[in-house]
Amino acid sequence: MSQRLDLATTPLHLRSAGTSLLLASPAPGRLPVVCHWGDDLGELTESEARQLVEALVPPVVSDQIEGTPECTLAPDPSLAWFGTPGFELTVGRRPVSQMQLREATLTQRPDHQLLRLVATDADATTGPELILELRMHHWGLVSHRISVRATDEPVRVASLTPTLPVPSLASELLDLTGHHLRERSPQRARFNVGTHLRENRRGRTGLQAATYLVAGEPGFNFGTGQVWGAHVGWSGNQRLLAERMHTDHRTLAGGELLAEGEVVLQPGEQYQSPWVHFTHGHGLDALGSQWHQYLRTRPGRATRARPVTLNTWEAVYFDHDLDTLTALAREAAAIGVERFVLDDGWFGARRGDDAGLGDWVVSSEVWPDGLRPLIDQVTGLGMEFGLWVEPEMVNPNSDLARAHPDWLLGQVGRDPITARNQQVLDLANPQAFEQIRDQLLALLDQYDIAYLKWDHNRDLLEPISRTRGQAGVHDQTLAFYRLVDALKAAHPGLEIESCSSGGGRVDLEVLSRTDRIWTSDCIDPIERDQIQRWTGLLVPPELMGNHVGSATAHTTGRTTTLDMRINTAFLGHFGAEWNLTTQSDDDLAALKRAITCWKQWRDHLASGRVVHGDHTGSGRSITGVVSPAGDRALYCISVISTDETYPSGRIRLPGLDPERRFRVDVLSPTGTEPPGAAPDWTRDGLTMTGRTLTTAGIASITQPPGSAILLQLSAQN
Ligand code: DGJ
Repeated sequence: MSQRLDLATTPLHLRSAGTSLLLASPAPGRLPVVCHWGDDLGELTESEARQLVEALVPPVVSDQIEGTPECTLAPDPSLAWFGTPGFELTVGRRPVSQMQLREATLTQRPDHQLLRLVATDADATTGPELILELRMHHWGLVSHRISVRATDEPVRVASLTPTLPVPSLASELLDLTGHHLRERSPQRARFNVGTHLRENRRGRTGLQAATYLVAGEPGFNFGTGQVWGAHVGWSGNQRLLAERMHTDHRTLAGGELLAEGEVVLQPGEQYQSPWVHFTHGHGLDALGSQWHQYLRTRPGRATRARPVTLNTWEAVYFDHDLDTLTALAREAAAIGVERFVLDDGWFGARRGDDAGLGDWVVSSEVWPDGLRPLIDQVTGLGMEFGLWVEPEMVNPNSDLARAHPDWLLGQVGRDPITARNQQVLDLANPQAFEQIRDQLLALLDQYDIAYLKWDHNRDLLEPISRTRGQAGVHDQTLAFYRLVDALKAAHPGLEIESCSSGGGRVDLEVLSRTDRIWTSDCIDPIERDQIQRWTGLLVPPELMGNHVGSATAHTTGRTTTLDMRINTAFLGHFGAEWNLTTQSDDDLAALKRAITCWKQWRDHLASGRVVHGDHTGSGRSITGVVSPAGDRALYCISVISTDETYPSGRIRLPGLDPERRFRVDVLSPTGTEPPGAAPDWTRDGLTMTGRTLTTAGIASITQPPGSAILLQLSAQN
C-alpha cells in the first residue's frame, strides 16, 4: 500500500522500536530536512508535528546566509549546507547544485516502511534525477540509499552520501581500526568541530575498516548512553564520517568512495549508493541488535542448525594427500564435526602460495583421481564437504595470467606491486567473469560441495580495468556480488563463507548474500576475545566463524588451555582448525564433549540477543546471549590479563528480565572444573531475580589470566 505525501504541508513522523524520525520539507519542492532522529516522540498530531518543525528553526544571526543550513537526507550546498554534500554530480562542466523534490511516497512493507523521494535538477530539464530511499525497519534500523539517473545528458558522479543528523548530546565517537590478525579494535574520540573521516581505498571492505561509526552521550557503553550508529553496506572502497559544524549541526554519513571518472552515467544509466544502515538506541548492544536483526531476516538466509565445521588450513596447510586428509576426516567425524572444509592447495599448480590462483581445476598431481575419493569419504562419514576458493585472485604463475594478461587489473604493460605473490582479476571483464564462473560451476556440478570458503587475500593497488581503461573497484565489487549470486542461483542451498585474509570482508552487503564470515586468521583466544567482541556488534554469533586451534597458536606463538580455546569459540559458529590426527585421546574426548554441548546451544546462539558487560575490570570481558523469550541465557566470562582487583570483583549479568528468577550454573563443555578460586555459589547453585543479577551482581570466580568460563542461566518462573 503506497501513499503520496506532501512533505511541505505535512511532516512525516516515522516511529519504530523506541525511535522517531521526523521529516519535513521547509518549502514546496525542497528535499525533506530531518528534524529529529532519536528517542520516540510519542504520538504527534499533524499540528503538533508542524509546530515542532517550526519551533526548531533557529534565528538568523550575523554573517549568515538568509536561510537555515538544512540537513536534508541528501544535504545540498545550495541550501546553506557547508558540510559534506549529499550529492556531488557534474553535467558537462556544470556542478549540479539544487535538486527539486517532485514526488514523495510512503509504502508499507512487511518488515519496514519505505519512503521514496524523487528529485530532479532544479536548473536544467536535461539534468539528472535523484532517487532517495529510506527504509524504517520495524526494529528501529533506518537503511538509507541514494541513486542518480542520467536523463538526457551524461552525469559524472563524484559521490552520493546518505546522511542523518544526530543531536548535540552526542559528544563522543567510537569506530574501529585493526590489521591482519587483529581485526576490529575500538578507538574513541571527542566529537569536535570538523570531520572525523574514515576512508578506505583498499578495494575490499578491509581489515583496517572503520566498520561502524557511533556517536553518543559522554561515556556511552554497551549498556548505557543514547547512541547513534552508521554502517556502510559495501565491500569495496567506502567512507564513513561524523561531522560537526560551528552551528552545532552534527551528522553521520557514509557511502562509496569513487575514483575520479569511475562512474560517468550515459543517458538512462543509473548509479546506486550502497545502503547506509543507521541505528539508534540506548547502549551499543541496542545498535548491535538492530544490525543482527537485519541479517536474521535477510532473504535466502540459511535457517538450518549451524553445522560444526572443521577447516584443514592450520591442520595441513598446503600438504594435501588423500591418506592424511581421510585420516583427518575420520577423526573429525568421530568427535561430531558436521562440515569438512578443504582449504587452499587443491587446484592448478597451487603447491604453495606462489602459483595456481586463477586455475580452478583440481590438481591431478595431488588429486590423481580428482576430489571424489575424499568427498566420498567425507560424506560417507556423515559430514558435508566444503571447498576453499579465491575467485578474484590470480598468481602471475598461472595458466590464466599467461593466457590473458589483459584480464588483470592494472595499467596496460605494467603489473601492480604483488601481495602474497598475487594480482587481481578484472572480474567485471565479461570473459574473465565467464571463465571463472564456469570453472566454479563445473566443480559444483561435478562434486557434492555444500559450502565454499571464499577468500580474497590482498588489497587492490592500481585497480584499473585494462580492457575498459578505467578505474575498476566499483565494477569489481558488483561483479563479485553477481558471481556469488550466480553460483547460489545455480546451486540452491550452497553456503558461502566470506573470508579475506581472515576478517577483511565483513559488511552487511556481503553478508546479505553469504552465510558466515571468517572472523580472523588469528585463533589465539586471547586475541580473539576482543576481535569477536567488536565484530560481534555487527555480526550475530551464528554468522561468526570461531574455531578451536592448536594449543600454541600458529599466529602468535602463545599457548593456552583447551578450555580457554573452546569457551572463547563457544558463542559463535563453532568449529576446529587443528590437526586432530596428532592430538591426545584426552583432548579429542574433551573436544567431542564440547561439540556435543555446543549443539545443544547452537539454536539459542542463532536467535538470542547479544549483550555485553560494562565496567568488568581491565582484563575481563563478559559477553552473553539471552533467548528471545528471556528464559535462558549463556554468558562467557573471559580473563585475558590480571586486574587490579584481587579477588576479582563482582560480575553483573546484563540483559536479563528483571522480574524473572534465574538459576545460575557454571557450564563446562568439556566437563572439567573451571580454573581459579570459586565462590560458594558455584558449588551450591544459585537462584536470583534478573534484577539482582544485573544490578547487585554476584561474586565471580577469580579466574587466572588466559581463561574463559561459561555461565548458563535458566528461568524458574
Ligand atoms: C587466508 C585465510 O584467511 C586462511 O584462513 C586460509 O584460507 C588462507 N588464506 C589460505 O591461503
